[in-house]
Parts: sequence; C-alpha cells; structure tokens
Amino acid sequence: MNEDIEKVLIAEEVIERRLDVIAERIRADFAREDSLQVVGILKGALVFMADLLRRVPLRLEIECLNVASYHGGTESSGQVDFLDVKLPEVKGRSVLVLDDILDTGRTLAAVSEKLYEMGARKVKTCVLLTKDKERAAEGEADYSAFEIGDEFVVGYGLDYDGKYRNLPYVGVLKESVIG
Ligand code: IMP
Ligand code: MG
Repeated sequence: MNEDIEKVLIAEEVIERRLDVIAERIRADFAREDSLQVVGILKGALVFMADLLRRVPLRLEIECLNVASYHGGTESSGQVDFLDVKLPEVKGRSVLVLDDILDTGRTLAAVSEKLYEMGARKVKTCVLLTKDKERAAEGEADYSAFEIGDEFVVGYGLDYDGKYRNLPYVGVLKESVIG
C-alpha cells in the first residue's frame, strides 16, 4: 500500500499533536453542556473520530451517519445521499458532526440542514482537512485540523475507490495508481 503513495502530506505524529489541540478546544467549548451528541460521517470519519474523541473527556454519545457523495472517482458527484434507514435522535440536542474533509462543502451543509430539520438545537462541524478552494455550498467547518491545497488525498480515513483509509498518514497517490 505505501508503495502507491507519491508523497506524505501530513505525517502521523503531526496529526496526533494537532488532535490534542482540537480536542481541547472541543472540550472547552462544550464543557457546560450536560451531554453532547457526536455524529460521525461514515466511512471517511472513522479513523479521525476514533483518535479525536478519545482525547475529549466529556460524556459524549456517538452515532454515525452513512452518507455518500463520491461514487468511486476523485471528483464529487454533487449529490448527497442519506443511506441510513434510521437517523440518530437529535431533537433539542447539541450535535457535533465529524467528517474527514471539507471539499465542495455539500456533505456538511446537507448533514447540518438535515440535523436542524430533525430538531437539533445547535450543530457544529469538525473536519480533519479543509481543502483550499471555492465551495459549492455555504459555510466552513467550526473546527478544522489542517488546511490543504486543492488536490486529491488518501489515508487517515480518506479513500480512493474504497482503499487506503487505513494509512496512518495523509498522502497523495502516484498518478499511475489513479490511472
Ligand atoms: P464535499 O461534500 O464535497 O465537501 O465532500 C466531502 C466528501 O468527499 C468527504 O467526506 C470525502 O468522503 C470525499 N472527498 C473529498 N475530497 C476528497 C479527497 O481528496 N480524497 C478522498 N475523499 C475525498
Ligand atoms: Mg469518501
């Protein structure tokens, strides 16, 4: 797997140090709430979620949402589909949505809108990566660990065609792999 990587963009230790900072911000911002509902967006947020949330010493409740916006390629399809039969119960609650990356912004915008529709009191968003580009949908994430250029990346939860999510760092694939 590592031989498919052209360059490492963000090393594992760099991610870990940054997660300490983001986790402390989340702890401080939500310390006064009696409970916080976290909603991770599958599957991209899996790795980020596990590493970040273990650093947040609050009484979190964790749910996941299965949402698809990419369909195997390296460009967003522009449509956000909710794939779950049952969505998490968020009425009257503060919700923190976690995703791997803010790209066009459509996923986080669609998920936030859906959670407000379902009666959430407050929705905040948190991503590992923010792509430096113009967004199709309004809004930046409330918490973002790293800003990257407008290039396709894999690892630490992010996939290409379903693979590379388990790379412990964020990297760029060799052109020969994308083909
Ligand atoms: P958005 O709705 O365009 O902001 O895209 C969000 C989703 O697209 C993310 O949750 C990722 O699953 C996927 N995505 C966007 N950029 C990349 C990338 O560079 N690599 C892998 N997946 C990406
Ligand atoms: Mg994805």
